[in-house]
Amino acid sequence: MRPAPLEGLEPTLNQRRLSIIGPGRAGTAIAKALANKGWVISRVAGRSIEHAQPLAEKLGAAACSAADVGIGVDLIIISTPDAVISETALIVAERAEHGALLIHLAGATGIEALEGVRSTRPDLVLGSLHPLQTLSDDTAFEKVQGAFCAVEGPQEIEELAREIGLTPFSVLPANRSAYHAAAVVASNHLVALMGQVERLASSAGVPFEAFAPLSRASIEAAFISGPASALTGPVSRGDTETIEAHLRVMDPSEVAVYKALARDALRLSGRDDAALEEMLS
Ligand SMILES: NC(=O)c1ccc[n+]([C@@H]2O[C@H](COP(=O)([O-])OP(=O)(O)OC[C@H]3O[C@@H](n4cnc5c(N)ncnc54)[C@H](OP(=O)(O)O)[C@@H]3O)[C@@H](O)[C@H]2O)c1
Repeated sequence: MRPAPLEGLEPTLNQRRLSIIGPGRAGTAIAKALANKGWVISRVAGRSIEHAQPLAEKLGAAACSAADVGIGVDLIIISTPDAVISETALIVAERAEHGALLIHLAGATGIEALEGVRSTRPDLVLGSLHPLQTLSDDTAFEKVQGAFCAVEGPQEIEELAREIGLTPFSVLPANRSAYHAAAVVASNHLVALMGQVERLASSAGVPFEAFAPLSRASIEAAFISGPASALTGPVSRGDTETIEAHLRVMDPSEVAVYKALARDALRLSGRDDAALEEMLS
């Protein structure tokens, strides 16, 4: 007869285990979000064991080599830069447990980045899970809840996404680059534009923070009523003289971005304004 399990040990044995390779921002956030749902973060690998050590210590996991990151875990998360996902998958797959889940987090590429492992490890469940959220600091795992994500792969990947509060959707492989371009504009370009706001505000002697309610309300309005309805300002009104004044006082290095976006605002407004178009060209 098998001895009864020690008190408190049984749940631990039933816990699902995961590992990360690529101990950066996205991998940490997703691993922490899963840890909050009862997963145990067992192993962390990076470009070297030394690179993995700091995060492993922080997460109470073991730092290991890339080749060992799949040992004893149900889920392996590849969160390296996009360019090395395929080669990383090949290394990781060799010692992965039978039937383990192997996913990456990139938005620019789908499941095809992992296809190389299929011939040698057809038992592994492959998938991609791209959190449509900016994950940049220690609290990023909290932002996962309520965000959307692009998933590719079998049902398990979708379930994994839902488990941490992400709303999954799928993107056709042919639309992957267009999808990722939209994500880049929605996040990175928006932040770059805030850089221009900060510089122009500073040239006017006005604090950057003063623009926060304006920016937040504009984004909110665009998502509530659609970008075209949310558009206000001189381009939508046809105030050509006001725009001329902006261009006169602006540092020449700001003009190209200002004009490009004013032209886009004109397109969004649907107004036919040859004079303004000429000024912005
Ligand atoms: N951050 C986001 O907001 C976000 C959101 C959604 C999806 N993603 C996706 O998540 C993935 C990672 O992005 P990230 O922003 O988290 O990047 P990151 O913070 O730069 O992290 C990448 C990590 O991978 C490590 N690494 C680099 N080359 C490696 C290799 N050959 N083997 C093992 N580890 C390696 C890096 O280590 P070193 O520091 O030692 O170079 C770093 O720890 C990307 O596919 C990205 O598209 C990111």
